[in-house]
Amino acid sequence: MLLNHLHTTSLVVLILIGTSWISPEVAQGQMLFNRGDCNTDGGCDIADVVHGLGILFSGAGPANCADACDVNDDGGHDISDPIYELGNLFSSGPNPPPPNDCGPDPTMDSLDCLMGPASCPPPVEDCGNGVDDDGDLDIDCADSDCQGDPACTQPLSFSVDMYPIVLDECTFCHGPPSNFANLDLSLEAGNDPYARIIDIPSIECASYDLVEPGDAQGSWLYRKIIGTQAEAATAMGCDVADAGTQMPLGPFCCLDQATLDLFQEWIDGGANP
Ligand code: HEC
Repeated sequence: MLLNHLHTTSLVVLILIGTSWISPEVAQGQMLFNRGDCNTDGGCDIADVVHGLGILFSGAGPANCADACDVNDDGGHDISDPIYELGNLFSSGPNPPPPNDCGPDPTMDSLDCLMGPASCPPPVEDCGNGVDDDGDLDIDCADSDCQGDPACTQPLSFSVDMYPIVLDECTFCHGPPSNFANLDLSLEAGNDPYARIIDIPSIECASYDLVEPGDAQGSWLYRKIIGTQAEAATAMGCDVADAGTQMPLGPFCCLDQATLDLFQEWIDGGANP
């Protein structure tokens, strides 16, 4: 019995701790509203007083935005709120505390704002400010809204993005024992395929490096996989007969457009290791 009781107590304590840990983050990104706009129609007027009284005394609740009904920002919605608002509207009492122009609640309290007025734009996630702006508990790049945002896209890398393709499509010819065109792209015997292609002149047209970081069109490897090696050779005065064929050779040709685009993006993006 005692153990059971202890167990239940610690569970409740844990839940309480958990809740208080979560609320500061929720507060960061909660609905935007105007304090005093209890009926969330965008303005503060007598209709808000009437609506607030209706919630308090005639079961017209729950409020869309209890925070907005907490006109004096004392952390609760009670009779002091419509009185405060009436004082402001009709007896030159003070304005409701902020937010007065579509903001989040700057003070911590247990009131919710589930639905702010339509005139307040819904909060959007800023993908680079370290804050959960839209209140979905995901911060910056962890928020699915930030997918594809420049702040969240990693530059392509050779080892992660490109090398798996090379292993599938190239190393059975460009690796021991064949090493066609003396191009070893394998990892065997300590070979470094990245170092083998970056800023290394082509043997077929030495005016080009195999990979020229930042310049896919100026990279022989790229011209070989898109099949414009003859034009590239001509442009630089190389012998077209030496330019060979599109890669991967013969029946293994060619890479699909998405893969070609990936090579272009990787090289144009700086050909990162
Ligand atoms: C079936 C074998 C085979 C496959 C697969 C293959 N290659 Fe080749 N590769 C060759 C041969 C043979 C040559 C030389 C003749 C030619 O260029 O047509 C060559 C030449 C090259 C050259 C020219 C090297 C230089 O120094 O000028 C490059 C670059 C190249 N290949 C890249 C690739 C890439 C990248 C892949 C994979 C996407 C690939 N190859 C797949 C056989 C292959």
